[in-house]
Amino acid sequence: MKILLLIFAVSVFVFPVARVSAGQQLDFLTRHLSLKHESPITLIAASGICPQSRKTEKAPSRYTLKQNPLFATTKNIERGQSLYQTEAKPTACKMCHGIRGNGNGRLARGLEPAPRNFTCEETMKSLSDGQLFWVIKNGSKGTAMSAHKFTLSDKDIWQVIHYLKLFSR
Ligand code: HEC
Repeated sequence: MKILLLIFAVSVFVFPVARVSAGQQLDFLTRHLSLKHESPITLIAASGICPQSRKTEKAPSRYTLKQNPLFATTKNIERGQSLYQTEAKPTACKMCHGIRGNGNGRLARGLEPAPRNFTCEETMKSLSDGQLFWVIKNGSKGTAMSAHKFTLSDKDIWQVIHYLKLFSR
């Protein structure tokens, strides 16, 4: 009987802790203890490579000046989230860019160049809305980043941009 009680107690206290993956714990630590700029090792484990080197082509100037025409309303962000996490075709963005936007999705391993790490403020702050829009629409030649002009409307793209920008806030 005592053993049963012990097993019960252990499962109640240990399983919820075990369910939080090491990555999530590190992520929590980096966010809450502001280790972001002090501990590169923690940073790599938690949020992918940062800053990331970018070889992505620069969007034509008629794109780089574009600004998101949609407001960051809950509705737009939620729609962006469902596109990013599940609905976008041909492949949901999270498969490469990661559920938490850190560039470490399930299909990311071995990709060269690596998918953008949206949690990396340093890299993301240099990218204009128009640049993001252009890449998502047209893809990045010679990389795994495919064009979405036939599968996502312009509105879808602006909504997904509102969502992915939250990863670096
Ligand atoms: C099959 C993997 C894959 C999928 C799926 C994918 N991407 Fe990417 N993405 C990449 C790679 C690889 C890069 C880096 C390309 C480069 O460096 O030119 C990238 C780069 C980007 C960039 C950064 C462009 C820049 O100028 O730095 C944005 C924005 C982006 N992706 C958005 C998205 C969105 C939104 C989706 C879903 C609609 C998506 N990606 C789906 C692989 C993917």
